[in-house]
Amino acid sequence: MTSPYLEKDYWDERYRKRGAERIGSASGTLAAGLGGGYNRYLYRLRRKAVEEVVADLNLRLPETSVLDIGCGTGYWSSFFREMRVAEYTGLDVSQVAVDAVSREYPEYTYRALDVGKPFDLKKTFGLINAFDVLYHITDDEKFELCLRNLSRHANPGGILLIADYFDDRQKISASHVRHRSYEFYERVLTEAGFEILALKPVFYYLSRAVGC
Ligand SMILES: C[S@@+](CC[C@H](N)C(=O)[O-])C[C@H]1O[C@@H](n2cnc3c(N)ncnc32)[C@H](O)[C@@H]1O
Repeated sequence: MTSPYLEKDYWDERYRKRGAERIGSASGTLAAGLGGGYNRYLYRLRRKAVEEVVADLNLRLPETSVLDIGCGTGYWSSFFREMRVAEYTGLDVSQVAVDAVSREYPEYTYRALDVGKPFDLKKTFGLINAFDVLYHITDDEKFELCLRNLSRHANPGGILLIADYFDDRQKISASHVRHRSYEFYERVLTEAGFEILALKPVFYYLSRAVGC
């Protein structure tokens, strides 16, 4: 019998074993086990897509407060520091990741919490970044609650950036991964009060757009 997916236990264990030493780097968080070169390339593709979105939306990062959901080992902390954002807060369910990333970026605020449960940071943000985290919230009710949480933490007119892989089969491909269809996302985002402004493929695989 396989054990149930408990986010905190799963991610703490994963970071304890092989993640936390890679703080701020792009060598291992996305596709653990597939090697540093492959991971660096995945991050490079995402970074390029983010830079394009920032330019398309004319986001002035030095005047923007950022909330980074599932900040992990801080690849995006490092990116946003380079972009000189006005303020940065990172959230992650893993205390191991939060402890490590807090040491690396003492100027930023980090909190260990599950974004699929109610939380209140008592402030709102101009940009919320949810990169490669929402498909790790495998329970649909928690997923919907998470998007409502994010909506409550966005400034009026604030931007939510998501990186995910859409899959019409809405399948759980591993205990910690559940991909959802674009239509599912559209419904939940709209109900949470978001309007979809743009979709941008991060890359193409056999002519299929991936990671919008
Ligand atoms: C694939 S990693 C991506 C990390 C980072 N966003 C990046 O792009 O490098 C997924 C991260 O989401 C975090 N995570 C998973 N479920 C979460 C939840 N329910 N609440 C907060 N963080 C969560 C994990 O601990 C992990 O750090």
